[in-house]
Amino acid sequence: MTLTALARAPERVDFPRASAAPFAVLRPLRGTHELVAVRQEIAADTPARERLLDAAFGAERSAKTSETLRAGRMPAHGLALSAMHNGELVGTVRLWHIDAGGKPALLLGPLAVADSHRSLGVGGVLMREAIARAAALGHEAIILVGDAPYYVRFGFSAALTTQLDMPGPVERDRFLALELAPGALAGARGMIAATGDKAPRVRVKLAAGRRRAA
Ligand SMILES: CC(C)(COP(=O)(O)OP(=O)(O)OC[C@H]1O[C@@H](n2cnc3c(N)ncnc32)[C@H](O)[C@@H]1OP(=O)(O)O)[C@@H](O)C(=O)NCCC(=O)NCCS
Repeated sequence: MTLTALARAPERVDFPRASAAPFAVLRPLRGTHELVAVRQEIAADTPARERLLDAAFGAERSAKTSETLRAGRMPAHGLALSAMHNGELVGTVRLWHIDAGGKPALLLGPLAVADSHRSLGVGGVLMREAIARAAALGHEAIILVGDAPYYVRFGFSAALTTQLDMPGPVERDRFLALELAPGALAGARGMIAATGDKAPRVRVKLAAGRRRAA
């Protein structure tokens, strides 16, 4: 590139976008010689993921306000991640398409790590990977409801959600956002709404004999 062309180069450099193709990253488990693998969630992870979420949040987790934005929707493409250790699912995080007061964004959650694997850095690995992949896929902002003392370390702040509302009760100091592109939430105002693809309905096909008997 010539000096003249360099002088005209845009300030913002767009990195190549990540594909949502399967991937896996290996990271050390803090204080051990073991590795945790973070990869895209697969269908076979579902039972273990649901058990982990029940253990982390209790059966009442389906009553959370965030759940109304996730229920019946598909997670954003390439943004459902599982942390695996010794073939076992030990962590999960998913992100969902939302409209944040007129701006396209992602809702992050639930994030959970198995009790047996807490404070080993798995939550941090999942968060950093989720944020990096969301940015690389071209998303510009992430919103979540969670403990601010945990999420501030990843750059989340309640200052970005003051003009936004959730479709249900929410504690304002737990209503946090992160801009992946500077100013992405500027002017965002109003109610957050789900915009992701609808999840396909699970239909159980009954055998002809059972259908007649039913
Ligand atoms: C929150 C959670 C995902 C963290 O996972 P993790 O793998 O233990 O996290 P990391 O190892 O990356 O980080 C551990 C650090 O976060 C801190 N931390 C964990 N939960 C925290 C919370 N709710 N608030 C503030 N700090 C928290 C730990 O004290 C530890 O601090 P240290 O590094 O100074 O010792 C995990 O504890 C969990 O699944 N909790 C139950 C479900 C939950 O609350 N999920 C979302 C939070 S709203």
